[in-house]
Amino acid sequence: MSKFFKNLYHLILINTKFFIILKFIYNFLPNYKTKSKSKIIENEIYNDFKSYNEKEKWFCNNLFFLNNQLKKIKNIRNILEIGSYEGRSCIYFGKKFIDAKITCVDTWSGSDEHLNIKFQEIESNFDKNILNHLGNDRVKKHKISSDVFFEKNNKFFDLIYIDGDHQTDQVKKDINNAWRNLNDGGYLILDDYTWWWYNDLNKNPASAINNFIYNNINSIDVKNLIIWKQVLIKKKSL
Ligand SMILES: C[S@@+](CC[C@H](N)C(=O)[O-])C[C@H]1O[C@@H](n2cnc3c(N)ncnc32)[C@H](O)[C@@H]1O
Repeated sequence: MSKFFKNLYHLILINTKFFIILKFIYNFLPNYKTKSKSKIIENEIYNDFKSYNEKEKWFCNNLFFLNNQLKKIKNIRNILEIGSYEGRSCIYFGKKFIDAKITCVDTWSGSDEHLNIKFQEIESNFDKNILNHLGNDRVKKHKISSDVFFEKNNKFFDLIYIDGDHQTDQVKKDINNAWRNLNDGGYLILDDYTWWWYNDLNKNPASAINNFIYNNINSIDVKNLIIWKQVLIKKKSL
């Protein structure tokens, strides 16, 4: 409960508009205390998963939320993921959308918050986990920064998941680049909306996400815009 108020307070401090705050509050009850329900999904999909630190399962806390949001979504053939780490999110999306091919982009060198992590091991775990859970023909791995990937990329995707560098300037670049490469009617999922690692609150992902929403409101399906600890944005179909 106290986390909810802390998040609300921080969102107010960064001048989040009222309609976004309302959406955040609306999602509180259905997603409050869903850790145990996420755990059930986690146990179903991550058996035999290689992990550098068993306690670091950031993605897993969102499983219940994501499962509910993605129930109605169909026809996802091409997924792009920015930030793959050991492969948890990739495996989740791969098992959720069994016809989809997934492009994974990661430097496998971490960012500010990744202190004392041996990324060679993280990358090797990614390779093993993907092979074990999805096989290599559905996943294309790019070991480069998201900026370099987007410079060269000319493919379009049905779903893009962003969980790379969390500094607001990089989040802003990643979202704008992703939006350009997202099909009409496609979905953007943004991780860590309520991640406040930088003391300067405006340096965290929420500022970039808010500004993106304000600037692109005409091409966003606002009725289907979901704001919680992750944000789900549907691009309007033309
Ligand atoms: C929070 S982790 C991703 C977690 C993963 N999605 C999961 O669910 O387990 C963030 C990842 O982003 C990667 N990363 C950081 N900066 C990046 C950049 N500029 N381009 C691509 N990947 C980046 C890091 O190497 C790290 O593996």
